[in-house]
Amino acid sequence: KSVADLGSLAGKRVLVRSDLNVPLDGTTITDDGRIRASVPTIEALSEAGARVVVCAHLGRPKGAPEDRYSLAPVATRLGELLGAPVTFATDTVGESAEAAVAAMSDGDVVLLENLRFNPGETSKDEAERGAFADELAALADAFVSDGFGVVHRKQASVYDVATRLPAAVGGLVSTEVDVLRRLTVEPDRPYAVVLGGAKVSDKLGVIANLLRTADRLLIGGGMVFTFLKAQGHEVGRSLLESDQVDTVRGYLDEAKERGVEIVLPVDIVAATEFSADADHEVVAADAIPAGRIGVDIGPASGALFAERLADCRTVFWNGPMGAFEMAPYAEGTRAVAQALVDVTARGALTVVGGGDSAAAVRQLGFADDRFGHISTGGGASLEYLEGKQLPGLTVLDEQG
Ligand code: 3PG
Repeated sequence: KSVADLGSLAGKRVLVRSDLNVPLDGTTITDDGRIRASVPTIEALSEAGARVVVCAHLGRPKGAPEDRYSLAPVATRLGELLGAPVTFATDTVGESAEAAVAAMSDGDVVLLENLRFNPGETSKDEAERGAFADELAALADAFVSDGFGVVHRKQASVYDVATRLPAAVGGLVSTEVDVLRRLTVEPDRPYAVVLGGAKVSDKLGVIANLLRTADRLLIGGGMVFTFLKAQGHEVGRSLLESDQVDTVRGYLDEAKERGVEIVLPVDIVAATEFSADADHEVVAADAIPAGRIGVDIGPASGALFAERLADCRTVFWNGPMGAFEMAPYAEGTRAVAQALVDVTARGALTVVGGGDSAAAVRQLGFADDRFGHISTGGGASLEYLEGKQLPGLTVLDEQG
């Protein structure tokens, strides 16, 4: 069901699950992309006369309040972006939330405090989760699921609450799903996937599936050292998941059998320490000195990746190529971002998936509109591409 299927919303209390999990430096929001992406749904509901009760999580608190995970700064930013006041409830389902909702007029927006300050939100115990979902549902007459970044989580505000209220899918979630579907159902070819980020163990499922759907896999980031090791190279003191080397070797063999091209870096920026001011040099990927740590793909690899992306019609990218948050090690990530921008300009569908990659491209100064789509979901987009059932989506299908 879409929001339109919920009928007239004027005067109704609508609970919206958004993903407002933004990076913070103290109380300063360093990338407000997820808040911006959440605004259109909230705005449309408010304009339709609904009383919009927004709920979201921030970080991973352990079921109890922690100041550093308060959504208070997000409420301020949301109000700025909406150009209208947002009332912040200092709890999620307690007195403050009830009072804030009771005081609402049509069109008003309330943001509840971090859902994960309540143990029921993420509990594995269905009864505990259900009890919290009952409390959330009591604050509203209808539910809109708009937090794409959390649809892979079976949590009270994503899953259980949708069984307790008339529920609809929000515009952000349906846009994200439409785009990702184009990557899985007959993508325009060549279809390349660029994977980076720290750990290969986080990406095993998606790699296995991409070997069946993609034409090229380009690997960078911390996870590349496990690939280089699987090819028999030494990686110095670089990040290495020794227990995954055999699995990765299996992927390399399978790729060969299936005719999927695996593109690995040919050079690496190797530093003496994992810090921005450490001594660093570019070395061949098969000759990383014993004491050195790989911190980025090198310039020849950036050029190689750009060349292998240039003729693609579809590109998905998840995970930075190096430690981009340290300026000297951002060039590999910049090269891939530029390659995506170039291929987008030539008409390819490009999708940047994930909080880190989205934050990286923005931090490097690339505007969102130079890519086909910047997904708000990291884990969620990977699990979608992995072909998994996502609880936050299946529950809506079951209700519809
Ligand atoms: C994300 O950052 O990917 C989403 O907000 C989900 O957060 P989580 O991984 O803590 O559930």
